[in-house]
Amino acid sequence: MLEHDVIIIGGGLAGCRAAVEIARKNPSLNVAVVAKTHPIRSHSVAAQGGIAATLKNVDSADTWEAHAFDTVKGSDYLADQDAVEILTREAPDVVIDLEHMGVLFSRLSDGRIAQRAFGGHSHNRTCYAADKTGHAILHELVNNLRRYGVQVYQEWYVMRLILEENQAKGVVMYHILDGHVEVIRAKAVMFATGGYGRVYNTTSNDYASTGDGLAMTALAGLPLEDMEFVQFHPTGLYPVGVLISEAVRGEGAYLINSEGERFMARYAPSRMELAPRDITSRAIAYEIRAGRGIHPDGSAGGPFVYLDLRHMGKEKIMSRIPFCWEEAHRLVGVDAVTQPMPVRPTIHYCMGGIPVNTDGRVRSSGDHLVEGFFAAGETACVSVHGANRLGSNSLLECVVYGRRTGAAIAEYVQNRKLPEINEQRYLSEAKQQIQALLDQPGQYRINQIRQAFQDTMTEFCGVFRTANLMSEGLQKLQHLQQQYSQIYLDDKGSCWNTEIIEALELRSLMVVGQMILASALNRQESRGAHFREDYTQRDDEKFLKHTMAYYSPEGIDIQYRPVTITMFQPQERKY
Ligand code: FUM
Repeated sequence: MLEHDVIIIGGGLAGCRAAVEIARKNPSLNVAVVAKTHPIRSHSVAAQGGIAATLKNVDSADTWEAHAFDTVKGSDYLADQDAVEILTREAPDVVIDLEHMGVLFSRLSDGRIAQRAFGGHSHNRTCYAADKTGHAILHELVNNLRRYGVQVYQEWYVMRLILEENQAKGVVMYHILDGHVEVIRAKAVMFATGGYGRVYNTTSNDYASTGDGLAMTALAGLPLEDMEFVQFHPTGLYPVGVLISEAVRGEGAYLINSEGERFMARYAPSRMELAPRDITSRAIAYEIRAGRGIHPDGSAGGPFVYLDLRHMGKEKIMSRIPFCWEEAHRLVGVDAVTQPMPVRPTIHYCMGGIPVNTDGRVRSSGDHLVEGFFAAGETACVSVHGANRLGSNSLLECVVYGRRTGAAIAEYVQNRKLPEINEQRYLSEAKQQIQALLDQPGQYRINQIRQAFQDTMTEFCGVFRTANLMSEGLQKLQHLQQQYSQIYLDDKGSCWNTEIIEALELRSLMVVGQMILASALNRQESRGAHFREDYTQRDDEKFLKHTMAYYSPEGIDIQYRPVTITMFQPQERKY
């Protein structure tokens, strides 16, 4: 059996930042990162617009309190305010620390880190590296893994969390290269496995964002928090859905409907294109519904609106947002210097996740913690984003809570022994699971079921939701889950069998989809990204609380836990 003091599942920003912190705090600890891709291919690398921190380089009036207020208001008052305070207070320090590690941030003419406007933020506080900020940060963190001697298991797919008697003891993992299975035990297990964008049919997320960590946690009997809050990013490039950064609007671009109107004046007059994402995405969806969307031939009534950069000029476009220009040019043949880009909302981020406290320790219920189990980043719910995340707070969460969780783990493992595990039992169950998939005499291809599932989630649990729609969605999902047991794999080999990985990922997606639908159906109000056409108002009396959803094959049990309110009392949310 493999063993380490600490194993971190996920090689993105939160996982790498935690690994670096553990090594800094106690260089004698033996730390490993396990990732299903090479760490540099983790989805964090795709983050574009920036990382928020009140450095005050551009706006001296900015404060961490203002950042905290914007975050809480943006969350529609569902964020836990103790967690938000930590996020915003520690932000300048983590950004400076990244700079010291070597991250190449864009600069002002005097050499200080540049900062730009972003949606829902009242000050220009988003630090950036052009529109490749995630790329710049992740590369330095991965370099630092080497520097600190962290062992990396890359291209291993973790199949199962080993949780016994409320203690995380290790994981079972499958080597994609040759199909062999291993158990790793550790004194602490951390999940930093990212989000689940691939639950939907149009997303800015990469193919690996399949919610594996969330599903493994749920299948182990632990709750998932606030899963109904799914973020649509307003500007996915039509029709592919890839991200066109909010930085484009931060740098001055307009959203335009088929009548040539800057329609955000109707929905958020004080913030216009820089309203929070839930409001901007719904505004675009309303415009399209009202027939003011645009067709590819330029006529009215189509499925997208325009993001117009032309007034910004070539020099600014090419220096501040060159990657977005390149994406539009390469993928849909639009030269944004002279033509508007076609955009519509695309699934981007999961506000909910594995419930954790502010040290990254996983909760087994409202008040109780799981021994030896930690989580951070998009897969965790601490909860700093509540019902709607502000752009550029996600990279920030990864580094602030990655660092805190790493520090907490270094402390936690100090006097702990490696746990006892019945390795043979876990190995043989995993091998049976793989063999059963290979032997299944099924009639469906993975792609068929996955596409039907993604279409179901998109149609029945998208921007606009109702009880009828979601109940129908849950029924369809049950049917698809039955069909899952009849999938057929063409590849029966053990060498680089990506069909096995896709089959396991599809299982994760379906568990996560069911958790989203059940949580959304139970929340009979509209808050942040969760908009119910049958309950259009926020209802603080009944629903100012976090959903805690527990999975079982018979169905989902929904419970709730209170929101922590310290500085800001809930108010009507207007922009
Ligand atoms: O639009 C963006 O660049 C995305 C940033 C974020 O999700 O934080």
